[in-house]
Amino acid sequence: MIATALIFMMASQAQEPALIPTPARLEIKSGSFNLSESTRVLIDPQAINLKTAVAELLGRALRARKSSRNKLHLSIEKDRTSMGEEGYHLSVKPSEITIQSATSKGLFYGLQTLRQLLPASIYGGAQASVWAIPCVEIDDWPRFPWRGLMIDSSRHFMPKSEILKFVDLLAMHKMNVLHLHLVDDQGWRIEIKRYPKLTEIGSKRDFDSQGHFGDELYGGKKHGGFYTQQDIRDIVRYARERYITVVPEIEMPGHSQAAIDAYNELGTGDRPGVTDEWGSHGNVYNVNESTIKFLQNVLKEVMQLFPSKFIHIGGDEVSHDQWQLSPSAQALKKERGLKDEQELQSWFIRQMDAFLADHGRRLIGWDEILMGGLAPGATVMSWRGIDGGIAAAKAGHDVVMAPTSHTYFDYYQSKFRAKEPPAGGGYLPLETVYQFDPVPSVLSDAEAKHILGGQCQLWAEYIPTPSHLEYMAFPRAAALAEVVWSPKKSLDFADFRARLVQHLKRLDVLEVNYRRLDPPMPAPIGHWSPAEVSEQLQTKEWEATPALHGAGTYDVLFEYTVGECRLDIAWVELLEDGKTIARDAHDGRTGAQDMKNQYRLTLADQKPGSTYLVRAGVRSDGGTDSSGDVYFIRSP
Ligand code: ACM
Repeated sequence: MIATALIFMMASQAQEPALIPTPARLEIKSGSFNLSESTRVLIDPQAINLKTAVAELLGRALRARKSSRNKLHLSIEKDRTSMGEEGYHLSVKPSEITIQSATSKGLFYGLQTLRQLLPASIYGGAQASVWAIPCVEIDDWPRFPWRGLMIDSSRHFMPKSEILKFVDLLAMHKMNVLHLHLVDDQGWRIEIKRYPKLTEIGSKRDFDSQGHFGDELYGGKKHGGFYTQQDIRDIVRYARERYITVVPEIEMPGHSQAAIDAYNELGTGDRPGVTDEWGSHGNVYNVNESTIKFLQNVLKEVMQLFPSKFIHIGGDEVSHDQWQLSPSAQALKKERGLKDEQELQSWFIRQMDAFLADHGRRLIGWDEILMGGLAPGATVMSWRGIDGGIAAAKAGHDVVMAPTSHTYFDYYQSKFRAKEPPAGGGYLPLETVYQFDPVPSVLSDAEAKHILGGQCQLWAEYIPTPSHLEYMAFPRAAALAEVVWSPKKSLDFADFRARLVQHLKRLDVLEVNYRRLDPPMPAPIGHWSPAEVSEQLQTKEWEATPALHGAGTYDVLFEYTVGECRLDIAWVELLEDGKTIARDAHDGRTGAQDMKNQYRLTLADQKPGSTYLVRAGVRSDGGTDSSGDVYFIRSP
């Protein structure tokens, strides 16, 4: 919370409202406004969409509008332009609430804030005869114009109802971009009238699907689904009413196996099948004129459905093997004087860039579109870290930051993987998301203007259901929403977390299956370092007494931090005054990929004055270069 607000809060003894994202300026005043059925609502005739928004957001609280004793006044004020088109002023006084903005969009965000000043039950359409709203003065505007979330509907199809639920959740968090990843090797998910086989064939796979370790995670069932054009229109309209732009992604030239299976002439070899394995695959579109035309025809239909200025064409993880072996690709390379396959890829992307520009749109793609030279109008979505974004911004291109390190919400939310549903790997806790700053410090002020904002990604290989999508998205998306909206100087994780506890009650009412907050992670009970490991199985011990809190179940977690070698673990024991009282023997390992690196020990009774040790049988997988930490944590 900002310092001025703290002073006001202390002066008035008022409760700090749990606003997420936290506003740019907040003053808490004494007194309150009584919102009731008799509150009169005045909506500026110039405002659009807001009747529905008021009805939806404040619900039956405002059923009757008879009395003029107190009023809620929403007005478009051109002199609020200095706050930007999304900024708003919200004033709650005992007799009147006013929300002012230069645009309807700003008023909509003001309403979202007003809603967070009401009890959480408002999110369920609850009714009270009178609600006291604390008096506040708020000036608020976003730090970035692009505040996005990506849903991957290719790896697992997400039904329209869930997409609409996410639209509401994004609006509530003042996010404004929903990026739909509609096409990948594992499924084509959007109806294209001109090419019906894209969905007839490309939206289905026989098997769902293998994990990284070859396990049959999702029972081997068939998987399929796609959005009809009417579904897309419904989603786009619903989003537009909530000031959210839906950005479609049509992957090319890689990640195209489902499309190539549907129309084999787009590829360079035999029909590949719609793959049931995760990871990126070697199939790429060929570079024939007919294929370029095919994809531009697809984009034509996509542009008719999505009014978004930006159209995402993917462009990531393109294997060049097939082009190297393809006579037509090699001939085109020669004819155009292109040095290598990277330049060929760049040529491919430029065909799309020019086509989209001709239709008044702008191309956005993953940072691999920088390879071989960036197309003139292209905007870069930087995912392999931030370097691609930095290079693009320095070259004068717009950038959306989406680095794996802070925004890949397919990563685990806890180090205790055994307690989490399977995920692709990686570790991205709430706190790290909150540390995300889309503007790298190496950029000058002028270059930093090219950073449009940031976005989180819900890659769905390991997200088979809507409720699981919510589990991976929240509360991390609330943290992301705050860092892309709120001024950098007002960001404070401890304060955010305190507000989040209240905010989660809203998500409860909305029946969002968010992940519960962790207690703070304790310090490790010990470490291992290169001097202490070898290829031979050996015994190591760490003192556990200070970490014990009475009888119960405890988890021992081995967490590799650095080094060439992983640590393999054979067994773990708990010793009381030198005597083994609990043991968990299974093969585990921790390294770049962890597997079963958590051991469970039960203590029946903690004896006062006794000494407890954790003992483990460990070895490296070759050499000594391995370091890491050992945690001992009571299981909830
Ligand atoms: C990506 O994660 N391949 C964009």
